[in-house]
Amino acid sequence: DGSQYGVHLSYKVQPSPDGLAQAFLLGEEFIGDDCCAMVLGDNIFYGNGFTHLLRSAVKDAENGKASIFGYYVNDPERFGIVEFDENGKAISVEEKPAHPKSNKASMGVYIFTWEKLRQYLVADAEDPNSSNDFGKNIIPKLLREGKKLCAYTFTGYWQDVGTIDSYY
Ligand code: G1P
Repeated sequence: DGSQYGVHLSYKVQPSPDGLAQAFLLGEEFIGDDCCAMVLGDNIFYGNGFTHLLRSAVKDAENGKASIFGYYVNDPERFGIVEFDENGKAISVEEKPAHPKSNKASMGVYIFTWEKLRQYLVADAEDPNSSNDFGKNIIPKLLREGKKLCAYTFTGYWQDVGTIDSYY
């Protein structure tokens, strides 16, 4: 329950694996009026001012802007790839592109204004052609509709431990 870390953790079970977008809506009761974050579970972060970046992204969310976090990688074909403009704004996000537009992998951390994200999740859940995925559907749609997506670059330690090799 998190008490040994001084936090309170609550859980909701998703009965079948029907996408992260659906999982988010299932957890709606935990969000209330707060900003919200999605953090993919198979990632490890450490150091170099990450707390500071997160605090700044929460301020963005309080002002109605979503945020995504990028990390330099040598194998961009394996990740969701964020393309930045010269002002640090995200202009495209593509899942595992054959021809990556940058070397910045999305770290699987997103921060949102709940009221705005909710509209996208509900519309996405009703779309039979969507795979209900953040990187493939929700974030690209947000960008297509001209919504501001702040892009932060993290330079500390990040590892996606989605494979046994990367875990070791
Ligand atoms: C997921 C996301 C991808 C992100 C990656 C980071 O991919 O879809 O955008 O770059 O996590 O860990 P997955 O690890 O599920 O293949």
